[in-house]
Amino acid sequence: MIHCDIADGMMIITINRPEKLNALNDDVLNELNETISLLNDDDSIKGAIITGAGDKAFVAGADIAGFLKAPNESGELLAKKGQDIFLCIEHSNKPIIAAINGYALGGGCELALSCHFRIASENAKFGQPEINLGIIPGYGGTQRLPKIIGKGRAMEMIMTGKTIDSAEAFSIGLVNHVCKQEELMGHAKSIMKTIIEKSSIAIAQIIKSINASGGEEKSGYATEAYCFGEAFRTDDMKEGVTAFLEKRKPDFKNR
Ligand code: COA
Repeated sequence: MIHCDIADGMMIITINRPEKLNALNDDVLNELNETISLLNDDDSIKGAIITGAGDKAFVAGADIAGFLKAPNESGELLAKKGQDIFLCIEHSNKPIIAAINGYALGGGCELALSCHFRIASENAKFGQPEINLGIIPGYGGTQRLPKIIGKGRAMEMIMTGKTIDSAEAFSIGLVNHVCKQEELMGHAKSIMKTIIEKSSIAIAQIIKSINASGGEEKSGYATEAYCFGEAFRTDDMKEGVTAFLEKRKPDFKNR
């Protein structure tokens, strides 16, 4: 259900259920959870890219087929399970990019939102269509979407259930780049290569600090100061500054 490739310090995580447009059933969610734990625990992996198998979908949502069989009172737990996994992605200390190669709907859009940033192919489509099923996003969409595209736009997307294309997603800041489908993974890897050449300690502190923004103002600044302190005391800081002064490229050792 999840295909995982590790090369050049990057993990490529492919949601691999193309016959169901990579919809997230329990098995996919469990494997995704295990894969993120593996990513976090393995020091030789510096970052990950999440994408979908096939050329049609990133992830077309939570698996709707299971909804009618589930007991009425199971919804909250269902949401909590996805939320917990997506929180692990958001708070991973390794950079995680979503490479969106087609439909990113419902839980698929929410999975992309939980990644640190997103790039998309021209055929990608985004939406939170849960309202058409009489429900609402449950994997963090109501929390992350307004932070990324603004409250009014998030309200409209979630209330109407309408799908937007990648050009519109780019124009509202939902994705950072749009490229041809055949260039998507190459583009994602090239951005990741730039990031993983930096100090991984500093990258982890950036994730922690930016994740602390937008909440209670003072606590975000306190987190940033703490994280700055963590980066400031590293050998990588000494190497980065020395390399600058010596007019050479830094050679970070991640310590
Ligand atoms: N859950 C379960 N199965 C899904 C699914 C989902 N979220 N999304 C797609 N599938 C399945 C379809 O049921 C179909 O299975 P089948 O071949 O056994 O009938 C297969 O994937 C292909 O999808 P299909 O609908 O035939 O493709 P399409 O090109 O006509 O339409 C979509 C593509 C994405 C527009 C359409 O599949 C769709 O609207 N999916 C649901 C999106 C959604 O509401 N997500 C939020 C869930 S909370």
